Amino acid sequence: MKKTAVVTGATGGIGEEFVKQLLSLDIVRVWAVARNGEKLEGLRKKYGERVLPVRVDLSETGGIDKIGGMLSEEKPDIRFLINNAGIAKMASYKDFSREEIIRTVDVNCKPPVLLCGLCIPYMKAGSNILNVSSASAFQPNPYINLYAASKAFERSYSRSLNAELKGTGICVTAVCPGWVDTEMLSKEINGRRVRFPGIVSAESVVKTALKDAEKRRDMSVCSLYTKFLHLNSKLLPQRLVMKIWVNSIRKYIVD
Ligand SMILES: NC(=O)c1ccc[n+]([C@@H]2O[C@H](COP(=O)([O-])OP(=O)(O)OC[C@H]3O[C@@H](n4cnc5c(N)ncnc54)[C@H](OP(=O)(O)O)[C@@H]3O)[C@@H](O)[C@H]2O)c1
Repeated sequence: MKKTAVVTGATGGIGEEFVKQLLSLDIVRVWAVARNGEKLEGLRKKYGERVLPVRVDLSETGGIDKIGGMLSEEKPDIRFLINNAGIAKMASYKDFSREEIIRTVDVNCKPPVLLCGLCIPYMKAGSNILNVSSASAFQPNPYINLYAASKAFERSYSRSLNAELKGTGICVTAVCPGWVDTEMLSKEINGRRVRFPGIVSAESVVKTALKDAEKRRDMSVCSLYTKFLHLNSKLLPQRLVMKIWVNSIRKYIVD
């Protein structure tokens, strides 16, 4: 049976890096999940026939059902499930449309839970689930409020699921990077060039995540800078951490 990985958000910065690094391990087949057909075909051209493009919109129940159908047909030997697809917007709560609110929850929260449920029956001892959360899950973050709350959901769900799966040999790791240099980050907001302290490459996030998963850790925090933020969020009052955060991003927000 072919060792398989399922990677969502495979056409983005962190997702593509997962595809690349998993293919350099002993993974034979990667189901690359995303919406953009051209980019998916580009992945297949770049990495070859071992990449299976799965074009779905994860925010739609039909998209998840399509993956469910493929699983029951192929019954793959899933060694890695990487729930990575995500969307973000930095703005005041007032500047979110009803559609944006629903979409954020539908992309960031529902698919990881549904895909864990669908894929676990095809996983065995030694397999890994990596759910890409964020350092914004460490404490509440005003002005990326909804995104941070969705990532706290993902981190909490992942760590609890890992405890529930104890005894199966399947490990769940919540991957919590700080800023990562990908298309997700707006380089400019309201005419101001944005600074991203401690920004790292997708390559180092994925390398650290796969190492932590191998060590059966339930959390992966890449870089000393983000580890420092994590420690601060545990030691300092959350109100103070929020205040420091708001001071650092206030200049980009029109309130
Ligand atoms: N960049 C950062 O600073 C940072 C920091 C911490 C955590 N993260 C997390 O890392 C993950 C990956 O982020 P990234 O920086 O690599 O972002 P990115 O470059 O914007 O990639 C996002 C990926 O998600 C896919 N996607 C979005 N909506 C989708 C939908 N409805 N259905 C299926 N796929 C969808 C996109 O593909 P299509 O457009 O083709 O569908 C793309 O492949 C996200 O969960 C993000 O929250 C990022």
